[in-house]
Amino acid sequence: MTSAHVATGATAAPARLLLGPGPTNVHPRVMQAMLNPILGYLDPDFLKVMDDLASLMRQLFNTQNPVTIAVPGTGTAGMETGLANLLEPGDVAVVGTHGYFGERIAEIASRQGATVALVPGEWGRPLDPDAVKAELSKHRKVKLLGVVHGETSTGVLQPLEELSRLARQHDSLFLVDAVTSLGGVPMEADRWGIDFCYSASQKCLACPPGLAPMTASPRAMEAVGARKEKCRSFYLDLSLHRTYWGTQRRYHHTAPVTMLYALREGLRLILEEGIEARIARHRHAAHALWAGLEALGLKLLVDESCRLPQLTTVVLPEGIDELDLRQRMLREYNIEVGGGLGKMAGKLLRIGLMGQNASAEAVLTLLSSLEGVLPRLGYEVAVGEGVSAASRVLAGAG
Ligand SMILES: Cc1ncc(COP(=O)(O)O)c(C=O)c1O
Repeated sequence: MTSAHVATGATAAPARLLLGPGPTNVHPRVMQAMLNPILGYLDPDFLKVMDDLASLMRQLFNTQNPVTIAVPGTGTAGMETGLANLLEPGDVAVVGTHGYFGERIAEIASRQGATVALVPGEWGRPLDPDAVKAELSKHRKVKLLGVVHGETSTGVLQPLEELSRLARQHDSLFLVDAVTSLGGVPMEADRWGIDFCYSASQKCLACPPGLAPMTASPRAMEAVGARKEKCRSFYLDLSLHRTYWGTQRRYHHTAPVTMLYALREGLRLILEEGIEARIARHRHAAHALWAGLEALGLKLLVDESCRLPQLTTVVLPEGIDELDLRQRMLREYNIEVGGGLGKMAGKLLRIGLMGQNASAEAVLTLLSSLEGVLPRLGYEVAVGEGVSAASRVLAGAG
């Protein structure tokens, strides 16, 4: 298969099928939206774009929170915004670490000067609420409980409601990483009592990387207002962002205008499809993929009861070189898939079906390319079995 090259000016990038952990492919309408003229960051027509976007983000997070904004930067900027604003030196934060991104929350929390207590979990399984409860109970006051909803390093979907209840019981703020989950599985920020939730533009929202949509509850904003010292990050200071996104419209930073156009168009596409329909599409595509992978004799890391539809982790068979496999997929089939992160490096293949790629076409293309590559790496498969099994599910007969 040859790759089409999309040339813009002096650069030319191959148009790949992005089936890794993100970024994912972007809808042409989103690309088109980025061709809109640049407006000044206080232009009334641009402020309307921001208002529109804030309202779309509220619908997606399922929240009434007035402070619902898109922070410039990738998902990590969303994470850092939450932690830099909600934690101060000396605070205690309890963080669930059942994967690479939980560990990142802990790392950033500790850089805020917080005392971080970890609740380690097995990579590939959700956190144990009893372990979270036990850790919360050890401290006189826990300022914040932080967890990852969709752990992209393992493919686990973490149930949140019980953890939220525990956070309330301990009068702790509940921070949730929805970088990979938002737009692909249900999100009920208000109903689930989430105080700070952030995501990223490039995963199930299917926009280019560069924005972190986030929402902060009134309780979280009270904590921001009650800080003993200023937020140590000027750029990520929520009280300053609020003066720009809110009615005051005070300059804080030059908005990444083009990215905000893109995100607005991406969210419009989601709402036109319907959030529930989109979630069902992600689930349907994932079930087909899982059936296909299992028909090839491959083992999935996560039990189906807590598997993240938009990110599937395959345990690599003995002797298969992860890098070799991924490079062949890229060079020979023009498909990007991900490898393992952290302690899973070299052990996993991570397959993302996000946004428009939660489709029959992507599933079947991926499976047929795996059927082509795996035997050449010494792993025999019954060629055609993966595609057939997935096709049966896609046809509603699986
Ligand atoms: C669950 C999760 N949290 C945080 C991040 C960090 O996001 P970014 O790489 O966009 O900064 C990622 C990135 O993959 C992620 O999957």
